[in-house]
Amino acid sequence: MIILDNDILETLLNHRSVRQFKQQKLNDAEINQLLKAAQQASTSQFEQQFSIISVTDPKKLQVLADVTTYDLVKNAGHYFLFIADQHRNEQILKHLDSNADTTNLHSTDKLLASIHDVDLALQSMFTAAESMGMGGVVMGSIYNDTDKIIDAFNLPQLTFPVLGLALGYPAETPEVKPRITSSIIHYDNVYDDEIDFEKLDTYDQLVHDYYASRKGNPREESFTHHLMHDLTKSPVRKNILPALKRQGFLKL
Ligand SMILES: Cc1cc2nc3c(=O)[nH]c(=O)nc-3n(C[C@H](O)[C@H](O)[C@H](O)COP(=O)(O)O)c2cc1C
Repeated sequence: MIILDNDILETLLNHRSVRQFKQQKLNDAEINQLLKAAQQASTSQFEQQFSIISVTDPKKLQVLADVTTYDLVKNAGHYFLFIADQHRNEQILKHLDSNADTTNLHSTDKLLASIHDVDLALQSMFTAAESMGMGGVVMGSIYNDTDKIIDAFNLPQLTFPVLGLALGYPAETPEVKPRITSSIIHYDNVYDDEIDFEKLDTYDQLVHDYYASRKGNPREESFTHHLMHDLTKSPVRKNILPALKRQGFLKL
């Protein structure tokens, strides 16, 4: 039997970020279910190299609001901070054998593995939340001041803040943002270096119409204009590489 439609597909295809929430905090049962969904995601080499911090302390939420410049973090039903974490596994190894060689945990490979673990766990949690009637937004803007996040949440060596996830019951219903024509990003067998600019123009018009007609914050914008504006700025977050090295990553 071929299934091209079901509740999970509907949830995935209806994804849109939600940034306005009802004043309803998530309860323990909801939070536990979300954590289960996050933890059941694939995890590199079954090493479960990530941690999740529930942020409920108003002072910590204020730090997040200051760093990200989004007040929404304080209004969400719940805020999860996702951490790439090789520290816990190092502690486990040292507990088993104080002479254990943990050099590998400082490698680029293990940094990537822990970031993959975070991203998959976060996306599973996000989709689970959406399937439960919630909405939310991923927040990479924590990178505006990584050091402040590391300080505020006592992040030890071999940990790094990767993403925030604000979840809650939606107080808005944004339109679904159209994605790029799949033939532009999906190739057969080898990378296709020829962009079909006609198809890109059509997509650009679609994005233009989406921005012009959406209810919240309509504006004059297209995909290519957005890329030009965003990607040609000089790099604004130069603190990330030194912070990664200070946290003990990228040693080999
Ligand atoms: C890694 C990552 C970081 C993001 N960081 C932010 C953020 O800091 N603030 C924000 O409002 N949205 C953030 N987003 C959400 C994107 O802006 C959003 O997913 C994108 O514009 C597509 O819109 P949609 O999710 O409504 O389809 C982030 C998304 C990802 C994947």
